[in-house]
Amino acid sequence: MKNNLAGRDLVSIDDLSKEEIEHVLKTARDLHERPRPDLLKGCILASCFFEPSTRTRLSFESAMLRLGGNVIGFSEAGTTSHKKGESLVDTMRVVSNFADVVVIRHPLDGSARAAADVSDKPVINAGDGANQHPSQTLLDLYTIRECQGKIEDLHIALAGDLKYARTIHSLALALAHYPVRLYFVAPEGLALPDSISQELRRHGIKFSFHANLEEVLPKVDIFYMTRIQKERFPDAEKFTNTCILKKGMLGNCKKNLKILHPLPRINEIEIGVDDHPAAHYFEQAKNGVPIRMALLALLLGKS
Ligand code: CP
Repeated sequence: MKNNLAGRDLVSIDDLSKEEIEHVLKTARDLHERPRPDLLKGCILASCFFEPSTRTRLSFESAMLRLGGNVIGFSEAGTTSHKKGESLVDTMRVVSNFADVVVIRHPLDGSARAAADVSDKPVINAGDGANQHPSQTLLDLYTIRECQGKIEDLHIALAGDLKYARTIHSLALALAHYPVRLYFVAPEGLALPDSISQELRRHGIKFSFHANLEEVLPKVDIFYMTRIQKERFPDAEKFTNTCILKKGMLGNCKKNLKILHPLPRINEIEIGVDDHPAAHYFEQAKNGVPIRMALLALLLGKS
């Protein structure tokens, strides 16, 4: 298949057509099954994390190293000239000269687009505020297909902090490309943004809103949980115990149910769920490496 992604940015999941999403998923499968340890030899990834991360940063860096490339970067904005007052765009304009591809995580919505606008190298959004996290979505789609054998015709619940969780926003928009039935479960005050509901309607996706996890659990094949994004809004503490998945709620579930979570998990999935056959969130996190290998290879035109 022709690679249309060479030299492009991935800022929003909407930057990819359905065919391009499928191309990334297939490339990830190929790279997982047939390792290419020299594919990105001589290439450099700039890993620019202005906000904390465990999975995204380390899986991007692991992906680059597994393909034979090198990594420069920072995981703490306080160690950069940002601390002296340098603007994000000045930083990114300079950093893009030192690398072949740039990954950025930043607390402000729109920061990745601003970085892409001044970079002449591909920029990948690793999470910009409450806006988007498109590489997480690609690994979520890959995981759904891996554990259910398909994405089409599944009943999928997206739960937790639907207002501020960027993983939800990107995943809901990506699922609009597939014939799925969606259930949105959130405490009052943390509902899905209207802009995303409108996009789902435009694509003819059937969906409904719920406040109660137990009402939805028996109906779905995938239950995708998120934490309350307490770093994004001031009164988050009041939601701490409002949406918690407990082992005792899983009695009436479908046999094929899989529970996903982008992680980190705080208290919204009880530890006791971890050994339930439906728990799949730690397997999900492993898929970050093949997906990010595929993205790096495709954007660098080396697939
Ligand atoms: N899923 C995710 O973005 O995790 P990190 O914040 O640890 O990167």
